[in-house]
Amino acid sequence: MLQIKNLCKVFNNNTVNGKKIFHGLNLTVNKGDFITIIGSNGAGKSTLLNIISGTIPIDQGAIYLEDIEISKLLEHKSNRFIGRVFQDPSKGTSPSMTILENMSMAKNKGKRFGFSFGIDKKNISYFKELLSKLDLGLEEKINSKVGLLSGGQRQALTLIMTAMTEPKLLLLDEHTAALDPKTSEKIIKLTDNIVKERKLTTLMVTHNLNHAINLGNRLIMLHEGKVILDIEGKEKKNLTRGKLLQLFGENKGKDLFSDRSLFA
Ligand SMILES: Nc1ncnc2c1ncn2[C@@H]1O[C@H](COP(=O)(O)OP(=O)(O)O)[C@@H](O)[C@H]1O
Ligand SMILES: [Mg+2]
Repeated sequence: MLQIKNLCKVFNNNTVNGKKIFHGLNLTVNKGDFITIIGSNGAGKSTLLNIISGTIPIDQGAIYLEDIEISKLLEHKSNRFIGRVFQDPSKGTSPSMTILENMSMAKNKGKRFGFSFGIDKKNISYFKELLSKLDLGLEEKINSKVGLLSGGQRQALTLIMTAMTEPKLLLLDEHTAALDPKTSEKIIKLTDNIVKERKLTTLMVTHNLNHAINLGNRLIMLHEGKVILDIEGKEKKNLTRGKLLQLFGENKGKDLFSDRSLFA
């Protein structure tokens, strides 16, 4: 489904601030994979998602989504196949528009001559049905401006809007990190349901080890631009916090053990 071949990326190349992020990263994501990605601060997790979605150009290598070399496409073109949810709840939706307008816009995304702001009345009952599944009462508020919603409500809305566009690939970058713990758990559950129900191929970056362990069929750990752990199938199912800590130790030694940010 997704193939990353020999990815190289340096920020501020040829300057004193030059920073090598990736130096020959290879990764193959299978169709239907739900991969959780962990790694210490600055490991390159967000950069990787930015590169996949085309926000950041690569220096060397190639990225294929199915048989399309997306690393050669401009961002707005790969947007048609890739859905994203960021950490910041204000990023995925438009605050001055209503829930209905936001959902209508999401529904039009990817249509060849789309991007019409027109609201298709036929869709209203479908939108309400999707919203009612969230159990947040949003189906009663479809004419409310999204800017009035809480962070958790906005992330939930962003998730269903993104899923509605039927992306070939879903990228989640610490999308619950800005929420309070209770809301975060709710959104994680919703994420799991949506990904499973729609069989979305998904990469989810998280700082929460429990989420990384409990969700998905595969767990990847990034460190200094390399995949240092790639656990899937039965091994992933049987994974525990203790086992993961032990693997960290074996693979990377002491400094990662002491990386508090990862275990917060
Ligand atoms: N646009 C950029 N220009 C220069 N350096 C960047 C840029 N984006 C990220 N970096 C640097 O690349 C490294 C990896 O960042 P990032 O991918 O955000 O890490 P993570 O998401 O794993 O915490 C960091 O050292 C960060 O400062
Ligand atoms: Mg990040």
